[in-house]
Amino acid sequence: MKALVLAGGTGSRLRPITHTSAKQLVPVANKPVLFYGIESLVAAGITEIGIVTGDTAPEIEAAVGDGTRFGAEISYLPQERPLGLAHAVLIARDWLGDDDFVMYLGDNFIVGGITELVEGFRADRPDAGILLTKVADPTAFGVAELDTEGRVTRLEEKPAAPRSDLALVGVYLFTPAVHDAVRAIGPSARGELEITDAIQWLVDQGHTVSPTVISGYWKDTGNVTDMLEVNRSVLEDVDPARDGTVDADSELIGRVRVEAGARVIRSRIVGPAVIGRGSVVTDAYVGPSTSVADDCVITSSEVEFSIVLSGSHIAHAGRIEGSLIGRGVRVTGADRAPRAHRLVLGDHSHVRLTS
Ligand code: DAU
Repeated sequence: MKALVLAGGTGSRLRPITHTSAKQLVPVANKPVLFYGIESLVAAGITEIGIVTGDTAPEIEAAVGDGTRFGAEISYLPQERPLGLAHAVLIARDWLGDDDFVMYLGDNFIVGGITELVEGFRADRPDAGILLTKVADPTAFGVAELDTEGRVTRLEEKPAAPRSDLALVGVYLFTPAVHDAVRAIGPSARGELEITDAIQWLVDQGHTVSPTVISGYWKDTGNVTDMLEVNRSVLEDVDPARDGTVDADSELIGRVRVEAGARVIRSRIVGPAVIGRGSVVTDAYVGPSTSVADDCVITSSEVEFSIVLSGSHIAHAGRIEGSLIGRGVRVTGADRAPRAHRLVLGDHSHVRLTS
């Protein structure tokens, strides 16, 4: 069995972060979200992995490499434009050959992995397997309708009037039957070849599509709120460590990981939190559910329930909460007149000011 991991696309809901980098590489507890997916495939015994890439291919390839670090063999499958999830299957046809495969959306996060799901599929071998979960707002997802016996009858991509609250999770299991399906469908109203339509085609042709409803934790990390929530949940299990230095005037409470080369000076860190390699936290407070990546500087500021990417500086900035701060960003207090907000923001940035 192979795996097709989708790491192309545009990431418009994570702008401006995704203007300059791939959404699948935004870190959760200082590790790219994509890495969790690859690790869960390897844990399920799947080591032949093809990654579909778009404009951010160089960045994805630099981060993931040839797969050795994961115990996997990784191939890259460039997709000229993000023409849809079913289009990704279409362009991967030769690489996939006649193998069964897991299709894994690179921005999805599934707590507890997929090992059981893959084992079930291997044992029963339906024509396709889909993963579903109840969501509050099904209009943002592919939605499945099941009959009274739990069989899939209808699938719809981002319906305005959803017929159920069961959303398609971004992990799909396919036999080669899917190749006929992706060739048979046409583009949707949004101009994409939808995998949802391909699976509907399988249902209509009488193929068995086996649904598994999960109640465990799953998130599509496509937007900032979900990203912060995934980060919060992963940090709950972080292993506390003091590989960096913490001075006598500082206090670490709860699960806190201070990575090698990081320094904590006259500061209070309340976990769960991670302070990345080479970062320096001085006269500051870092509150629960916060990931500070490598080489950041946090001085005389408070940061809570946030993700700060590498190389950013936060100084005399007051209190920051519920924020996703990109790489190499500078957030500084106005220490002299005029005491005004002075902003240099990238396109599609979002700022909420308290005064
Ligand atoms: O997250 C689950 C949802 O994922 C499902 O409920 C939907 O049925 C499914 O269509 C998909 O919806 P999204 O709108 O969230 O898909 P998105 O465009 O974010 O793409 C998902 C991943 O696939 C992401 O890592 C980018 C990548 N991708 C996307 C497209 C359209 C590609 O590699 N190539 C593409 O052409």
